[in-house]
Amino acid sequence: MAKKSSKSKGASAKAAEEHEVAETVQKTGDASNSEEIDKAFEEAMKDGAGESAKSGSGDEDGDEDVEIDVSAAIQASGGHLDLDKVTVKDIPGVGPSIAKKLAESGFSSIRAIATLPPKMLMQESGIGEKTADKIIKAAQEICKMEFVTADVVFEKRKNLGKIVTGSNALNEILGGGIETGAITELVGEFRTGKTQIAHQCCINVQLPVDQGGLSGKALYVDTEGTFRPERLAKMAMAKGMDVKEALKNVIYARAYNSEHQINILRQARKLIETQNVKLIVVDSLISHFRSEYFGLGALGPRQQLLNMHIHQIQQLCDTYMVAAIVTNQVQAKPDIFFGNPTIPAGGNIVAHGSTYRVFMRKGKGETRVAKIIDAPGLPEAEAVFKITEKGIEDAET
Ligand code: GTP
Ligand code: MG
Repeated sequence: MAKKSSKSKGASAKAAEEHEVAETVQKTGDASNSEEIDKAFEEAMKDGAGESAKSGSGDEDGDEDVEIDVSAAIQASGGHLDLDKVTVKDIPGVGPSIAKKLAESGFSSIRAIATLPPKMLMQESGIGEKTADKIIKAAQEICKMEFVTADVVFEKRKNLGKIVTGSNALNEILGGGIETGAITELVGEFRTGKTQIAHQCCINVQLPVDQGGLSGKALYVDTEGTFRPERLAKMAMAKGMDVKEALKNVIYARAYNSEHQINILRQARKLIETQNVKLIVVDSLISHFRSEYFGLGALGPRQQLLNMHIHQIQQLCDTYMVAAIVTNQVQAKPDIFFGNPTIPAGGNIVAHGSTYRVFMRKGKGETRVAKIIDAPGLPEAEAVFKITEKGIEDAET
């Protein structure tokens, strides 16, 4: 408790500075400056970041010369490629060594490759840049991902999955629940219920669709050591689920530093493809980044790395239609005299990176108030819920 207070209070002066500089970094070097992001990423990956980073810098095995003939692939299939079944091996020109590298790093689906930036494919699989570029272009061609009309998007959005939170009021302001294909950011002071909602969704995602779940598993990336299987057990019990089974469906990884966190997310790809993972939780998104990249000079690299990390999560959401919940802390607003004196940490990078942003604060007793502060197509609404022995529930039941 004491530790928590100092965490949020003591940081206020620094946070004000941080915020300003974060904004400057944003204005001058956001996504447009992807070279810098790559550089920062490569730097961070240099020391012991895993095999793929080390082997990702060259085309030692001569795979540069891959000739990818997409039209031949489409023709060979009679023009009816089933994208769920097509793998990289089916692309003419992708030799066995590249196919092996891709498969080993979790890229069995062609959709996953089509939505990756070449650098990321390089880093994650260890293939060379030119090859990565060619393969991605071929995958994009096969997936024909350029333009679609609004009715197609409409149909696609109708099929988006939602995970209920446990509170009908909260589900309602979220447009039904935690959405797949998107990042939902829970932001608020300590003990406002961010971790509790994340735990509850790890249970609820396992429910069948008609009960508000996705019949899937959850992957929980814990950066603060606040993951509690006992709490999951209580929540599962309250729903009458087989507790042992419910716990088996939550895959846990403790991230010890920001680099480790990024690497876990890289490995997540394989898990998502093979384990029916439908929810990724990162609790908390930025605590490691904040503590490791300390002081004004470190803000640029920190924001760049954070940007890369958020894109990494978003790419997984887009490709596999999984939902992501990330939690975030608040920091003091530098120039506020009236109203709410705190703002979400992480500056514009996090603000732009998350699809839905939910601001949480304490209400009376065990109640909490959640407010949608930034969401495409949703009004700025508030919901009251409570945290009980059973988990997340409506305030009035
Ligand atoms: P930080 O991670 O510190 O920023 O906070 P947070 O927003 O993640 O808070 P968290 O979700 O951990 O919420 C903590 C609150 O949940 C506590 O203050 C309790 O009120 C409530 N809570 C946690 N576990 C239980 C439980 O087993 N039973 C009940 N009734 N409430 C619980
Ligand atoms: Mg927490």
